[in-house]
Amino acid sequence: MEKIETLTNHLPIIELQNDNYPLTPPIYQSVKFTYKSHAQLSAMRRGEFAGYSYSRVSNPTVRQLELLLARLQQREDAICTASGVGAITNCLMSILKKDDHVIMFIESYLPTRYLVQKILGKFGVSSTLVSITDHEAIASSILPGQTKALIFESPTNPQLKVADIEYLVRISQQHGLTTICDNTFAGFHNHGAYPIDIFIHSLTKYAGGHGDVMGGVIIGNSAQIKPLRRDCFEMGAVMDPHAAFLILRGMKTYKLRYDKQCHNAMKIATWLQDQPQVSRVYYPGLPSHPQHELAQKQMHDFGSMIMFDLAAKSPRHLDPFFDNLKLFREAASLGSTESLIVPAKDYYATDLSLRSLEISLINDFSIRLSIGIEDADDLIADLATGLKSYAMPL
Ligand SMILES: Cc1ncc(COP(=O)(O)O)c(C=O)c1O
Repeated sequence: MEKIETLTNHLPIIELQNDNYPLTPPIYQSVKFTYKSHAQLSAMRRGEFAGYSYSRVSNPTVRQLELLLARLQQREDAICTASGVGAITNCLMSILKKDDHVIMFIESYLPTRYLVQKILGKFGVSSTLVSITDHEAIASSILPGQTKALIFESPTNPQLKVADIEYLVRISQQHGLTTICDNTFAGFHNHGAYPIDIFIHSLTKYAGGHGDVMGGVIIGNSAQIKPLRRDCFEMGAVMDPHAAFLILRGMKTYKLRYDKQCHNAMKIATWLQDQPQVSRVYYPGLPSHPQHELAQKQMHDFGSMIMFDLAAKSPRHLDPFFDNLKLFREAASLGSTESLIVPAKDYYATDLSLRSLEISLINDFSIRLSIGIEDADDLIADLATGLKSYAMPL
């Protein structure tokens, strides 16, 4: 018999019968997959039958998550990545080349602006930054033959503006641009009916849902995803199978959590509107939101993100407000079970000019909330304590 060191490295093979499926997905925490014969492995490598060989290329647990997310977003295929930003990076690196031009938005997620301007800029990709609601500027920034992609979010992070998707898709199709929608805020159940070419999500948010795992995904029909897949696994920032397992587990309660978070957000946004220490509330579900009707038309619900402006005169007025909150914890990220709070400018707009900040509606007193699944009245009581402690400037 082999010695212990040998046996512990060559495990007994457990074969499941073809009709015996684990109900909870197993984690295929293996980098390598082997075959009964060299001939079989060679056939698999030639693509003559489906199989796995190396987890950077593909892994069954990750694949299970990819197929689920593609289906939820009403598309054929998906590629999971190590983080949401990883998905944006892989997607743009794969579809763009030197001298291409991209349209993105003053209201885009800050790392997206950084990636396009600072990193892709080094490789000869140029970009134009306009406001998501300025259709004239969008149309006039298209450079015929050079503009290849338009990347947008809706609702936007952090100011919750709503993109007119029908318009963006129409103008992109007229000029042959690839439309890329970072759909992290709206979720997999929204926007799938629009003919957007590629969806991106940070799975670190609503999908994982518990703040304990990072991931991203690129979703589209096979025509879009097939050419991206090879580039993605050669760039290497792929998802680990254990992360895929945690996200698959999170996805079981995705809709329950999202619904409860939307319900809480609506109640809190409505309450905030009536507080004297609050000068403005941005939530697409409020009739006072300038694009409420558009949001109603495009989305099944309005998400769990709120921005509001404190009626303050100095940034030091923010300290007592933040320090007196017990439930809302100051931390980046969103979409988890617990509620979070951040000053919007410090986290999401440090790169914007004064003019862009103005267009973006972000000032020193803009506060972004991510609403969790706690009891809405408890969350309101917490915010009320914070607001009470904050001395209104004269
Ligand atoms: C809209 C949006 N896209 C992408 C990301 C990036 O996600 P990750 O942190 O998983 O890279 C975030 C993170 O906050 C986000 O808000």
